[in-house]
Amino acid sequence: MLKDKHVTLYVSGGIAVYKALGVVRELVKAKAQVQVVMTEAAQRFVTPLTFATLSQRPVLTDNFSAQSSSDDFIPHIKLARWTDLAIILPATANIIGKIANGIADDLATTTLLATAAPKIVFPAMNTTMWENPAVQKNLRTLDLMDMTVIEPASGFLAEGEIGKGRLPELTNIMVEIYKTFTKPVLAGTNVVVTAGGTKEAIDPVRFIGNKSSGKMGIALANVAADMGAHVTLISTVHDPISSPNIEEVHVSTAIEMQKKLEEVFPINDVLVMAAAVSDFRPVHQADQKIKKNNDQDIYTINLQKNPDILKEISKKKTNQFIVGFAAETENLIPYAQKKLKEKNVDMILANDVSKTGSGFNVDTNEITVIQPEKDPVTWPLMSKSDVAAKFWEYYQNNVK
Ligand code: C5P
Repeated sequence: MLKDKHVTLYVSGGIAVYKALGVVRELVKAKAQVQVVMTEAAQRFVTPLTFATLSQRPVLTDNFSAQSSSDDFIPHIKLARWTDLAIILPATANIIGKIANGIADDLATTTLLATAAPKIVFPAMNTTMWENPAVQKNLRTLDLMDMTVIEPASGFLAEGEIGKGRLPELTNIMVEIYKTFTKPVLAGTNVVVTAGGTKEAIDPVRFIGNKSSGKMGIALANVAADMGAHVTLISTVHDPISSPNIEEVHVSTAIEMQKKLEEVFPINDVLVMAAAVSDFRPVHQADQKIKKNNDQDIYTINLQKNPDILKEISKKKTNQFIVGFAAETENLIPYAQKKLKEKNVDMILANDVSKTGSGFNVDTNEITVIQPEKDPVTWPLMSKSDVAAKFWEYYQNNVK
C-alpha cells in the first residue's frame, strides 16, 4: 500500500523525536519514499544525519540552505507537490499553533502551508500543555482544516509524570498511516476470518498444537477492516487489533471454532479459513495433569478425527465467497486443486511451506491462487499484509 508513495515526515522539536526514527524505518521497509523535514528545535534532539541515513535521502531543514535549494529554486513548492502524504510527528504545541494560524516561518511550516496532500498530525507533549485551551482550540482548527489529528496516548511521560501526551505505539502509528491510503471500498461487506492453530487439550496443561502463528489470518482481518468491512475474527491467538471494525472471538479447539463459525456464517458475505485446524484431537481429556510413571516408557494417546470445518460449512453455502488455505510441502498445485474440489470452495490460497519465507511463523508468504476453471496464478513473495491487500483488492475487483 505504501510502495512508492511519497511521504513527507515533518519532525518538530520534542523529546519524542527519537520515536520518529522508528516511523522512518517502517516507511522505508514498506518501500515508501520518505523525505524528512526537521525544524530547528528537532535538530537539537536528534541530528539530521540519523534521519538522512534511515530515509536514504538528505534531510531538509531550512528554506535558504544550499541543500534545500541546490537542485531547485523553490524547494517548498517542489516538496509540497511531490508529497502524497504529510505526517507531522511528533507535533509540538508550537508547530500545531503555527499550522492552525497559517504561520510560515521555516521550511516545515512553509511547505505544510503549500501542501494539498492529506496530513496526519501526531501531537506529543506534556499533559498540561495538551489540556491547555489554546492548544485544544488550535487542534479543533486543524480538524476543521481536514487534517487527521491522532490523540496522544496516556502513560509515562519523559518528565516522570503519568498522563496523556505520549506518541502512540509504533504499530498504532503505522495503522493510522496505512488508513490514509485505503478507501472504504468494502463498507457494507461482512467478512469472517479464522486464524491461528487450534489447540486440542490432552490434560489441563498440555495440548496438541501446530506452528501456525495466526499472522496471515490477522493480516487478512486487519486489511479487510481498514477497507471498511465488518470483520468477525475467530482466532486462537491474541494480536493487536487495528480497527473497531473487527469483532474478535477467541477460541481454542476445532470444535469451538466450528461452533462459532456455524453461528456467524449465514450473516457473512465472505469466509476466509486461514486457521490451521488440527486434524485430530485426543479422545479423552484428563481432568488432572497426567503424571509420568517410571515403569512406563511408551504412552499412547488415542486420537479422534476432527471435523473438516471448511468442508462442512461449504455445504451450507448460500451466496458466500469461500476461501481456504493449503499449506503443502510438495506437489503444491495438484494437492491444492484437489482441496478446491473436495472442500467445494471458491478459492484456495496455496503456499509451499518448505520454501524459505513462505508459510508458518514468518512475516512473508508466496501464494499460488487456485480457482475453478482458471489457471493457477503465483504471486511473488511478499509480506503477509501485502498478500492480504492483494487478496481483498482481487475480491473487490472480481467477485464483489
Ligand atoms: O485439508 P487441509 O488441512 O490441508 O486444508 C486446509 C484448509 O482447510 C484450510 O483452509 C483449513 O483452515 C481448513 N481445514 C478445516 N478443518 C480441518 C482441516 C482444515 O477447516 N479439520
